Amino acid sequence: MRILVLNGPNLARLDLRDSAIYGSMTFPDLVKFISAEAAELGFDAEVRQTDSESQMIGWLHEAADGQIPVIINPAAFTHYSYSIRDAAELVKAPLIEVHLSNPLAREEFRHTSVISGIANGTIAGFGPDSYRLALMALARMVK
Ligand code: DQA
Repeated sequence: MRILVLNGPNLARLDLRDSAIYGSMTFPDLVKFISAEAAELGFDAEVRQTDSESQMIGWLHEAADGQIPVIINPAAFTHYSYSIRDAAELVKAPLIEVHLSNPLAREEFRHTSVISGIANGTIAGFGPDSYRLALMALARMVK
């Protein structure tokens, strides 16, 4: 089964971000990790990253039109993007929100997620394993 794993702004620069918060995996390594974990669970995962809100909305429309399950790390869009929330709400297949860090344990502006309310669930704080746990949850939901 085909799924989309969508990543928001600045996640392609994981190597430059605070490793105490985001760990030491580079984004290309994260893509390999997610693809391998997905394949083990029988998913064909397309892992994408964008810094553009418009691009992310386009991908969510693609998922909505094609009834494709989504795992999304909206990154900073999480905290303020109503247009990403509205687009994510159009996805009727399962949609799981993930974060590498635990935003609730960080600055106050990260305590709000405008996405969580329309996601089937949120997994945060486990580093790359957040994606793995989301894939496992998704497998349970669709099989
Ligand atoms: C993040 C958490 C967000 O607060 C932050 O803006 C990110 C990454 C995470 O994966 O921990 O860019 O979504």
